[in-house]
Amino acid sequence: MLSELKKIEENALGEIKTAEKLRELEEVRIKYLGKKGLLTQMLRSLGSLPAEKRPEAGGTANVIRKAIEEEIENKTRELESSSLDVRLREERLDITLPGTKKELGRLHPLRVTENKMADIFVAMGFDIVEGPEIETSHNNFDALNAPPDHPSRDETDTFYISPSVVLRTQTSPVQIRAMQGSAPPIRIVSPGRVYRCDPPDATHSPVFHQLEGLVVDRGITLGDLKGTLNMFAKTMFGQATRTRLRPHNFPFTEPSVEVDFSCFSCGGKGCRLCKGEGWIEMLGAGMVHPNVLSGCGIDPEIYSGFAFGMGIERVAMLSYNISDMRLLYENDLRFLKQF
Ligand code: PHE
Repeated sequence: MLSELKKIEENALGEIKTAEKLRELEEVRIKYLGKKGLLTQMLRSLGSLPAEKRPEAGGTANVIRKAIEEEIENKTRELESSSLDVRLREERLDITLPGTKKELGRLHPLRVTENKMADIFVAMGFDIVEGPEIETSHNNFDALNAPPDHPSRDETDTFYISPSVVLRTQTSPVQIRAMQGSAPPIRIVSPGRVYRCDPPDATHSPVFHQLEGLVVDRGITLGDLKGTLNMFAKTMFGQATRTRLRPHNFPFTEPSVEVDFSCFSCGGKGCRLCKGEGWIEMLGAGMVHPNVLSGCGIDPEIYSGFAFGMGIERVAMLSYNISDMRLLYENDLRFLKQF
């Protein structure tokens, strides 16, 4: 009996020592100390021993049980702390390593320019209204008083989707939508993309952006147009900027003007930017043609209005001193990061 007990102790302690996982340790405990465990059975069989041998065998068995329990406890602590060590080692973070830099996006210089332009007009009380880029040729041409043989209708100038549907060549059709959609007073600006069959070069692109302006009310004059554009010029390019109107011709305005801004680089003395002129051509404008007003259901005997349209690329290129329009579309980050 005693030698059997010794053997059990030896085996149990050996198995505890070699256990590598907490689960294995639990299996050892059950094997020896569980209800049907080897040591438990031994203790139960003590009753079959002669009375004088019982105390010694019982004492030894209890000492062995304590020893096994103690070893299991020690080993459990050891395994727990070593698995924690492994985790700590594997999940270790070196907080002294340099981080990976996350680049922040930013607005494209064209969008920045458009926002700045629109904000100036919003501060003057204009609403921002947008129109579709796919437009009826009626809104793009007919309603804007363009005669049937106007050169801008040519297929070499305009992208036709069908004879009656075009990619708008200007933001002016938004004027028509605005006047058909609401009664005067109307005060809107409309920024957006326009399309023309122009091969790309330093100053042309088949897709570019315009900002259209329209004011219709009683008693609107060319003086209001000039005052509004003066305000825009000074806010956009500096207080010293002056404007100059030159006679021009658009089908949808009468009279029509082209508007120059005094060169904000040289102040009007003449430099490379203004090609020695002192003035920079900025936009087209005029008083809304009576035919256009009446076509939209507005009585030209009661109301008058002015309209203007300018290229956003042109303003951006002048503001940022960009010499080639194509740079604005190529999305070369080395270029865009400068703004
Ligand atoms: N739509 C004209 C253009 O694209 C600009 C313009 C707008 C002129 C409004 C007069 C009035 O050239």
